[in-house]
Amino acid sequence: MSSAATLAIRGGQPAVTLTCQPWPIVSDLEAQWMEEVVRTGAWSWVGTHERAFCEEFARFIGAKHAMGLSNGTVTIQTALQAVGVQPGDEVIVPGLTWVATMQAALDVGANVVLVDVDAETFGLDPVTVEAAITERTRAIVPVHLYGCMVDMDGIMEVARRHGLKVVEDCAHQHGSRWRDQGAGSIGDAGSFSFQQSKVLTSGEGGAITCNDDEVFRTAFALKHVGWAPPGEDEPMKPAGVYAHNYRITEMQCVLLRGGLTRIEEQTRIREENALRLSEGLARIGGPLRVAKRDPRTTRQAYYAVTMHFDPAQAEGLNRAQYIAALAAEGLGLGLPYDPVYRHPLMDLQHSTSPVPYRDPAIMQDYASLRLPNVERICGETGLVMMHRMLLSEPAYIDQLVGAAAKVNDNLAAACEHFAAQEAAAP
Ligand SMILES: Cc1ncc(COP(=O)(O)O)c(C=O)c1O
Repeated sequence: MSSAATLAIRGGQPAVTLTCQPWPIVSDLEAQWMEEVVRTGAWSWVGTHERAFCEEFARFIGAKHAMGLSNGTVTIQTALQAVGVQPGDEVIVPGLTWVATMQAALDVGANVVLVDVDAETFGLDPVTVEAAITERTRAIVPVHLYGCMVDMDGIMEVARRHGLKVVEDCAHQHGSRWRDQGAGSIGDAGSFSFQQSKVLTSGEGGAITCNDDEVFRTAFALKHVGWAPPGEDEPMKPAGVYAHNYRITEMQCVLLRGGLTRIEEQTRIREENALRLSEGLARIGGPLRVAKRDPRTTRQAYYAVTMHFDPAQAEGLNRAQYIAALAAEGLGLGLPYDPVYRHPLMDLQHSTSPVPYRDPAIMQDYASLRLPNVERICGETGLVMMHRMLLSEPAYIDQLVGAAAKVNDNLAAACEHFAAQEAAAP
């Protein structure tokens, strides 16, 4: 890309001309199964597709058990209860995650203790986690966010030493592996979301994975109005547990089974393209780079690519201006979630919030909380690129790198553009 090229924000031609892979992807298989399901009228209650999906998903993750639920929020809630979290227990959650992780723990009556994250991976740091442990701590929720896994060696070691349970939030990690062990099979339970944007999706939906039979039975009862799971040849029956209906439907499982037939190949393509992108950006230098991949992550599902913007290399452009210049070239990047303690849903005084009923003496003061890495990632440096871009042609990835190179070569012109815009603003 010539450094003399006119930036698209100044009326030049966008660097990216190829199109991005749309998402979600479906095939005739799902359409055929869906029609069969619709016509049978057997739409829920652990039907043929749900049973098959649970077996296939457990195998894919490398866990003994998997069960389908209605979304990836109630999966966290149910998993926490199934591993033994009780009202008043402390649960350690990263300060950077989708708000559902925190809400799920609050909804089971836990006191959520938010801690800072690792600056590179945006995930829990075992040292910070250990420093937050008290005699009331019962569980840790490592959230494998975007394109990185949490250091599971460190988390499991801390958890074992302190006798704590671990529920992995794998909403972003369908098929990622840590030293060849599937995300969701390492802790006491794993929680997955199948919401529309995820790499395995049924529009909405979720799953819990685990290896322990008792955790499985309890979680099943909690999501299925207190019933015991079906045996090989026996029907399900009430197990006398107070519980909710968080069931998944056959229609969702049809879509998920279809997705599972493609996920290995899609993961391979995303990994190849993530490497191509990472190497391309490293070659051109400048303010944008892909987060370093921990070599212990032996497979990465890449729900998104975790990226870093370095303001010191941006010649005065801030992150918002830099991504606006990239977007005009056709490289669309997003911002990470807000710090979870600032999310509007964490209005603890709202009448629907379960939090005011907790003992304020032992609650973390979310309103005054400031976690330095979370603040910096959210406010200045963190960026994400969604997975469908990685499913596109390698030539498209090269054009994305070209877009970054074009902006990087013209940072001064971009600065001038935004300064003029600001000066002209009323
Ligand atoms: C990290 C994380 N955890 C949990 C969830 C909740 O999943 P769901 O939207 O299926 O309830 C999400 C959803 O995006 C998420 O990103």
